[in-house]
Amino acid sequence: MISPLFFAAFLPAALAAPAPAPVQAPVPHPMITPPARLEDRHVQQRRGLISDITSLGGAAESYVSSVLGSYPAYVESGVANFFQGFPTGTDVQSSLGISDSDLAATPTQALNIPGYANWTDQGWNLRFRGNIYKQPNISESKLNDLANVFLVGTSVQALPSSQADQARNLTAEIFVVQQGNVNVSFHLEPAASAGGDGEANGGGAVTPAGGAQNITLVGETTVEGDFDQFIQIANVSGAGGYLAPGNDTTNIQRLNVYTDGTLTGNATSYLVPTAGITIISDIDDILRVTKIYEPAEGLLNSFARPFTPWMNMPELYANWSASIPDFHFHYLTTTPEQVTRNYMDFIYKTYPGGSFDTRPLNFSDVSATLSIRKFLLTKIFQTYPQRKFILIADTSNSDVMTDYPEMVTDFPGQVQCIWLRNTSATDSGDKFPYNTKGFKGLNQSQYMFFLVPDDLKNLDVMNGQCYNSSIPQNVTFGYQGLPFGLSNGSSRLGGMSNWGMLVAGLLMLSALL
Ligand SMILES: *[C@@H]1O[C@H](CO)[C@@H](O)[C@H](O)[C@H]1NC(C)=O
Ligand SMILES: *[C@@H]1O[C@H](CO)[C@@H](O)[C@H](O)[C@H]1NC(C)=O
Ligand SMILES: *[C@@H]1O[C@H](CO)[C@@H](O)[C@H](O)[C@H]1NC(C)=O
Ligand SMILES: *[C@@H]1O[C@H](CO)[C@@H](O)[C@H](O)[C@H]1NC(C)=O
Ligand SMILES: *[C@@H]1O[C@H](CO)[C@@H](O)[C@H](O)[C@H]1NC(C)=O
Ligand SMILES: *[C@@H]1O[C@H](CO)[C@@H](O)[C@H](O)[C@H]1NC(C)=O
Ligand SMILES: *[C@@H]1O[C@H](CO)[C@@H](O)[C@H](O)[C@H]1NC(C)=O
Ligand SMILES: *[C@@H]1O[C@H](CO)[C@@H](O)[C@H](O)[C@H]1NC(C)=O
Ligand SMILES: *[C@@H]1O[C@H](CO)[C@@H](O)[C@H](O)[C@H]1NC(C)=O
Ligand SMILES: *[C@@H]1O[C@H](CO)[C@@H](O)[C@H](O)[C@H]1NC(C)=O
Ligand SMILES: *[C@@H]1O[C@H](CO)[C@@H](O)[C@H](O)[C@H]1NC(C)=O
Ligand SMILES: *[C@@H]1O[C@H](CO)[C@@H](O)[C@H](O)[C@H]1NC(C)=O
Repeated sequence: MISPLFFAAFLPAALAAPAPAPVQAPVPHPMITPPARLEDRHVQQRRGLISDITSLGGAAESYVSSVLGSYPAYVESGVANFFQGFPTGTDVQSSLGISDSDLAATPTQALNIPGYANWTDQGWNLRFRGNIYKQPNISESKLNDLANVFLVGTSVQALPSSQADQARNLTAEIFVVQQGNVNVSFHLEPAASAGGDGEANGGGAVTPAGGAQNITLVGETTVEGDFDQFIQIANVSGAGGYLAPGNDTTNIQRLNVYTDGTLTGNATSYLVPTAGITIISDIDDILRVTKIYEPAEGLLNSFARPFTPWMNMPELYANWSASIPDFHFHYLTTTPEQVTRNYMDFIYKTYPGGSFDTRPLNFSDVSATLSIRKFLLTKIFQTYPQRKFILIADTSNSDVMTDYPEMVTDFPGQVQCIWLRNTSATDSGDKFPYNTKGFKGLNQSQYMFFLVPDDLKNLDVMNGQCYNSSIPQNVTFGYQGLPFGLSNGSSRLGGMSNWGMLVAGLLMLSALL
């Protein structure tokens, strides 16, 4: 029997807690992918979502049932499941009733995700990753219907016009028709930075003297319109010289990658030397306020409100970029590919430039969702066997809690530090339990659970100082944050697993919503 008190703990607050004031953002990085726009808005709790949208197309309906049906999986994965199961490709086309000829007449667009390159015996080996799609011409009234599915407690019609525009904009970015089986090519050029070489907002990178060339991917896009492959690039001379070899420079070199046939697929990629330090940073609840652990809040913060930095993280990152020479920033989030532009827009306005990873479209079901982070982490670790990595995220992601410590054993000697923001310590709204057992064999000097960005401020990161001994650690290597003061192994758990209790509580919650 589940206590009503237990259940009440999971009821999302009806109104938003005030977000911390944004700190001053550094000068924008010259990200050449067009920024998306997010506007402020205020929304309240809403009920009867399913009945409101049954008149909509099949794609919208299955989206909503996946949201409402998936809170338990959301708890288990720590991945925002309201960002799960977006309709793709022909499902979008058929549910919107768009004819093949209308679609054929719309221009092809490209999402080009900033990549990273490693140095090999054949020269620089650059990862090209993104998606080819078409943006159907959806009528405003249909876009309103679709956007209303994503809004909780309000409707597009009730929003001020700038906010309604934004809701429609984001909705249109999700309802795109991905283009499988197309050939993709690019042209590369040395990338200048508006911030100046080596400066914080340029991610510590420099402009190479050469490298301009044309590249064609091997084979066609996947059925989902995705591409993801490493290609050897040529050592082409430019006005001022060549690309520097990755074993003969400590500089990170920046190349602009322009997708041919569209002006929508520009990105900056990073040639990262063989040796050095890379920080792999999660985004939700560490670089921005998401509150993934309060599903209703998480939805609003992801869909409706402007992205807001978490406390003074931008200042901390800018300081690292300025003080740690040749620090490579890699932003790795499991948020779906369709919203990548919004995440990139926020990151490049707020944090140092760097390469990026989001959830590829073939990782669509819940079990695949749980494996994305490991897949993406393994890919970048394998690419740089001699680099050291700093891993940072928060405790509300169960995949992080397993995958980060696993990298220590999977890639011996490569993990320099693991930093986890203890979200439940600073945010009473976080009722998600998490498991710290993966940290059991690790040396305390290698990891730290922290509370606020300032806890990381005076660490000698370059020399491997990861632990600030003034921050008390409470790690008991088991579940943390279980309700009613239960802890791992408590007899009161009876025959029911911890997750079983949670799932049951959240099922009740989702039935009420
Ligand atoms: C969304 O807004 C951005 C910024 O105004 C714009 O570049 C983009 O094309 C818009 N997307 C859609 C699908 O309308
Ligand atoms: C740098 O890499 C190239 C290509 O693998 C190799 O030929 C060269 O010997 C390396 N130089 C040094 C100093 O290791
Ligand atoms: C989209 O469709 C509307 C009519 O529904 C039309 O007026 C408009 O020109 C179309 N836009 C594009 C870019 O084709
Ligand atoms: C892609 O390129 C290959 C090789 O040039 C060609 O055989 C194939 O027909 C092209 N595919 C499309 C869809 O154009
Ligand atoms: C790349 O291809 C374009 C034509 O598509 C051509 O004009 C240009 O010279 C090529 N650049 C290089 C560096 O080969
Ligand atoms: C490119 O070639 C030049 C001239 O041979 C050489 O100095 C430079 O190290 C090479 N760079 C790379 C990346 O191979
Ligand atoms: C992409 O780059 C091209 C070439 O510099 C430029 O004309 C275009 O405006 C850029 N696209 C965007 C969306 O900034
Ligand atoms: C950033 O660096 C400045 C100047 O050294 C320092 O005053 C500030 O406390 C630092 N902030 C953080 C969060 O590291
Ligand atoms: C998705 O595709 C990549 C190749 O692009 C592959 O390595 C990966 O295993 C696939 N993942 C799933 C879950 O199918
Ligand atoms: C470069 O990266 C590729 C792709 O991850 C990897 O297979 C290869 O082993 C790496 N090469 C070196 C020399 O590290
Ligand atoms: C996180 O904070 C909570 C609340 O202060 C505490 O009970 C828990 O032990 C902390 N977890 C870790 C791993 O420090
Ligand atoms: C450890 O527990 C103490 C007492 O609950 C708390 O004040 C502190 O913030 C916790 N430390 C972390 C890193 O969560």
